[in-house]
Amino acid sequence: MNKIIAVCMGSSCFARKNTILVDLIREFLSEHNLTDKVSLVGNLCMDNCKNGPNIKIDNKVYSEMDSVKLIKILNEELL
Ligand code: FES
Repeated sequence: MNKIIAVCMGSSCFARKNTILVDLIREFLSEHNLTDKVSLVGNLCMDNCKNGPNIKIDNKVYSEMDSVKLIKILNEELL
């Protein structure tokens, strides 16, 4: 499995605490030994600010992310 997780680093998603998501993703990848299989990158504004914070896993966009939703999605997509 080689996946790419892109976290929107635009100002609106930043204001909506996207950095918390980055920390949680890093922890998740580390805990599950996925750091070699999943790339975590930043993304420019995804043009969906009003529904942020947004992340993308491969080509699928996930909006209105919070910690609980993120962990659920990571489990579904990566495990
Ligand atoms: S800043 Fe994230 S979608 Fe615009």
